[in-house]
Amino acid sequence: MIHENKLIITVDGPAAAGKSTVSKVLSQRISYIYLDTGALYRAFAYKASGYGILPDDERNLSELCEKMRVSLMRIDGDMSILVNGEDVTQKIRTEQIGFLASKISAVPAVRKALLSLQREAGEKGGIIAEGRDMGTVVFPYADLKFFLDADVRERVQRRYLEMLEKGDNADFEEVRMSLIQRDQQDMSREISPLRQTDDSIFIDTTTLSVEEVVETMAGIIEKAIKNNE
Ligand code: DC
Repeated sequence: MIHENKLIITVDGPAAAGKSTVSKVLSQRISYIYLDTGALYRAFAYKASGYGILPDDERNLSELCEKMRVSLMRIDGDMSILVNGEDVTQKIRTEQIGFLASKISAVPAVRKALLSLQREAGEKGGIIAEGRDMGTVVFPYADLKFFLDADVRERVQRRYLEMLEKGDNADFEEVRMSLIQRDQQDMSREISPLRQTDDSIFIDTTTLSVEEVVETMAGIIEKAIKNNE
């Protein structure tokens, strides 16, 4: 599909498979927009928890969807996420909010509310959209689809080290349990479950460095861009 000669590229996969890190680097390298859709669900979860709304309270979550104005802004080259004017970019980066986002993302009203926002961001192409249902539901006609995965032990280790580096109080076993449960929730929910499509390129990042994954993907992307010119 041609979008003013710029492609729609999707990157899906489970938590801590390396999606965000490589998508960010690649989008800068080819001057594409990086759409972190997990951040949208996290922002929503953050607001819901602030109002004391439980993840199974569909009525209040629906109401919150109507009140919430989410916007993505580029500040100093990095993407910031604002909810009703409040910058929540850093506040949403905890495993608790990630877990809550996973629970809340199973609610149909929440997925519906965030769908148009994601499609609007990508309709003109020139985007790397990263999440769980990019290639299946949000951009099923994407030009190029990737699915990243890694052994669960490696993913837990990565998330654990990331938390320690940030100075968070991390417990390996808690991180492990949260990640495993989150994967299960994301793969087994009724709408838009995490699933690899037949037309996506699978990359196992377990034994690869960030640079190796980036180079592998960049090679494929640059070829696709050339073919599209
Ligand atoms: O990628 P992440 O860890 O920031 O995402 C947090 C949660 O948000 C994830 O566990 C499930 C949900 N999510 C989703 O349901 N669909 C997406 N496209 C992105 C994230």
